[in-house]
Amino acid sequence: MKGVILAGGLGTRLNPLTKITNKHLLPVYDRPMITYPVECLVKAGIDDILIVTGGNHPGDFLRLLGNGGRYGVKNIGYVYQEGEGGIADALALAENHAAGGRVCVVLGDNILEKTIRTAVEEYRKQGKGARILLKEVDDPQRFGVPVLDGDKVLKIIEKPSDPPSGFAVTGIYMYDFQVFEFIKTLSPSERGELEITDVNNLYINQGTMTWSKIDGWWTDAGTFDSLLKASNLVAHGGANNN
Ligand code: DAU
Repeated sequence: MKGVILAGGLGTRLNPLTKITNKHLLPVYDRPMITYPVECLVKAGIDDILIVTGGNHPGDFLRLLGNGGRYGVKNIGYVYQEGEGGIADALALAENHAAGGRVCVVLGDNILEKTIRTAVEEYRKQGKGARILLKEVDDPQRFGVPVLDGDKVLKIIEKPSDPPSGFAVTGIYMYDFQVFEFIKTLSPSERGELEITDVNNLYINQGTMTWSKIDGWWTDAGTFDSLLKASNLVAHGGANNN
C-alpha cells in the first residue's frame, strides 16, 4: 500500500503565520509539522509516499524532506495542487502514484500519539472498500462527525452545528482504487471544496466502509489552539509511539 500526505490548502486559519510559510512547515514542538505524518506512515510500514502541496512555498518541502531517506522513506514524490479545491481535490492528484492499488492518506496537519500500524494491517486484510479512524473529542462540531448505530456508521456529517455523536472522523483514511472514480463524481460543497466526507459517504452507501477507534491522543494542528495543543502533547511524550 502506498502513502499520500495532503499538505495543500492556504492555511488561512493560521494567518499571519501562513503568509510567510506553508502551514505544514510550522513547528510542532521541535520539528516541522509535516514530519509527523511522514513518520506516522513509515512506522506503519508504508515507505512509498507522495506529498501533495500547494501555495507559495512548495520548494521548502523539498529542502526539508529531500529524498526522504533521513525519515525512512524509500520513495518520495511531490505534486502541486493549484488553488484550494479541497481535500478530495488534492487526493485526486495521487491517482498515478496509486497505480491501481490502495492508499493510506494522512492529512498533513494530523498528529497522533500512537502508531496506526494495527489499523493498517486490518485494512490490508479487508478485501475491498475503505477504512476510517474515529476519535472521541470535546469539540466534534469542528470535524466530520459519524452517525453511529452500534457498530455501524450510517453516514458522516461535515462540521455539524448539532453533532450526532462525540466522535471526529480523523484525517487518516484508507482507500482502494475506487476512490479516484468517486472523486470524479463530486461537486463542490458550499465552501467551494471537494469534500472528503462526500467520498466517505459514497463508501458507506456502498457498504464497504469499516472503522476503528484511535488509541492514545489525536489532534489536528490547523488552528492556533490546536497547534499549541499539538506542541504540548508532543513535548510530553512524543508522537507515533508503539
Ligand atoms: O482533521 C480532520 C478533519 O479534516 C476531518 O474531521 C474533516 O472531515 C475534514 O474535512 C478536515 O477538516 P478541516 O476543515 O480541518 O480541513 P482543512 O481545510 O484544515 O484541511 C486539512 C488538511 O487537508 C490540510 O492541512 C491540508 C489538506 N488540504 C486541505 C485543503 C482544503 C489540501 O491538501 N488541499 C486543500 O485544498
